[in-house]
Amino acid sequence: MKTIVISNRKGGSAKTTTAVNLASGLAKHGSVLLLDFDTQGHASIGVGCAPDEKLGVHSIFLGKTLSETFIPTVHHNLTLSPALAFFDVYEYADLRGVLKNRFKVEQIAEFFDYCIIDTPPTFDALLKNSLEVGDSVVIPFVPHHLGVVAVGQMLRAVYQSANQLGREIADVFILPVMYNPHIIEHRESLQKVKVSYGEAKLLSPIGVDIKLAKQFESGSPIVLDAARSKGFKDYTQCVSELLERI
Ligand SMILES: Nc1ncnc2c1ncn2[C@@H]1O[C@H](COP(=O)(O)OP(=O)(O)OP(=O)(O)O)[C@@H](O)[C@H]1O
Ligand SMILES: [Mg+2]
Repeated sequence: MKTIVISNRKGGSAKTTTAVNLASGLAKHGSVLLLDFDTQGHASIGVGCAPDEKLGVHSIFLGKTLSETFIPTVHHNLTLSPALAFFDVYEYADLRGVLKNRFKVEQIAEFFDYCIIDTPPTFDALLKNSLEVGDSVVIPFVPHHLGVVAVGQMLRAVYQSANQLGREIADVFILPVMYNPHIIEHRESLQKVKVSYGEAKLLSPIGVDIKLAKQFESGSPIVLDAARSKGFKDYTQCVSELLERI
């Protein structure tokens, strides 16, 4: 199983949009587990479900197993562990290694080809638990100055996590989102990321497409639903690029 963490501490940088479309896109190639680690539960909504108030992925911090939180979705090959709405990570002192331990004890890797984790826009135990199990990290970013700064901050978090655990650094992929090639700031920001972190880490950009925002209403990710749209083409390309590189 390949585990891909979708992460950026900056809010509103299309983490969830990327998570649901990558999960659904990869589900055309194998079985996928989507973990909705953000208590907002937007990834759950994105695949036609809802955050749960009783049992969700965050229940693993309350003594539940990960497998008992799994629910099937209407989408082929796509299993969801929904967000546990209102779980407050700050109420608990030490949550390190919980997800990693669940993966190991429950042999999650035996049951799925891919695991996608949508993370909250915070630097907390939820993000740290996710990074501990990630083989790859996809960092979506909106190409403007603070977006570029946030990529650097996120990269440092990835390196720090690997250092602390004494494990190999996850493969990092940087994904420009809501990219408009006609905007100079966008082109310049992309160039800065290329120069600073290397072209090899960059994935092809995702353009602006209002259908990507609308898909949350239908609970049907664009890679499954709107074949002629720009969002479909961009995220389908993103899935292909990832499959070649993970
Ligand atoms: N390529 C795109 N074109 C148009 N709208 C987009 C695109 N990508 C994302 N959006 C919209 O931008 C908003 C933020 O996206 P999303 O919720 O995926 O970001 P996020 O990083 O998960 O946010 P948060 O930090 O709150 O978790 C949403 O309303 C989403 O529908
Ligand atoms: Mg989100």
